[in-house]
Amino acid sequence: MLVDNKILPVLVIHDQKKAIDLAKCLYDSGIRNIEIALRTDSSKKSVDKIVNSQIPLNVGIGTILTIDDLIFAKQVGADFGLSPSTDTQIIEKSIELGFNFVPGISTPTDISSVVKYGINYLKFFPAENLGGMDYLNTINSPFKHLDLKYVVLGGINQTNFKKYLKSDSVIAIGGSWIAEQTLIETNNWNEITNRSKKFLELSI
Ligand code: 3PG
Repeated sequence: MLVDNKILPVLVIHDQKKAIDLAKCLYDSGIRNIEIALRTDSSKKSVDKIVNSQIPLNVGIGTILTIDDLIFAKQVGADFGLSPSTDTQIIEKSIELGFNFVPGISTPTDISSVVKYGINYLKFFPAENLGGMDYLNTINSPFKHLDLKYVVLGGINQTNFKKYLKSDSVIAIGGSWIAEQTLIETNNWNEITNRSKKFLELSI
């Protein structure tokens, strides 16, 4: 699902005119995977611009909360989708569409609901609030034999991300910290570059 490295910046884009500059900045910094959250009036237009650009990023659509969001992600040509929650209707539709979808989980009950569908990539959210890697290890232990893989998001930044990378169960970590809102608003591409490079360097 993710390519080249395990870092996944979450992008909340309020101004679609910045979408291409932001995508280019991230790609030039070595980022290969992004999650664009469907949380603003500009998000769908931003996704459209980035997916249809020449920038070869692996694009995930985040905050998929409805069937319409899922259909949008599939039709626009995104590589994968994620949601913060376990919604079985969306899971069933993603299977019907043949779309690579990563549902959100936060409890053993959520994990049980998801694995019934044969899904083994799950989004652990909100990671830091729930208790981080210790909590994930605990809730994953009854499912260990299924070799589930987690995309870890929620409250992750430069001070706390390394512990997740040590786990074999974690295939990706990320968050909005890399391309923080204020940095996008102020066109601070230098700082977004610095943060991307730092995450990538430390993740090797
Ligand atoms: C997400 O949608 O995955 C989250 O917004 C990421 O969490 P963060 O904003 O705390 O990094």
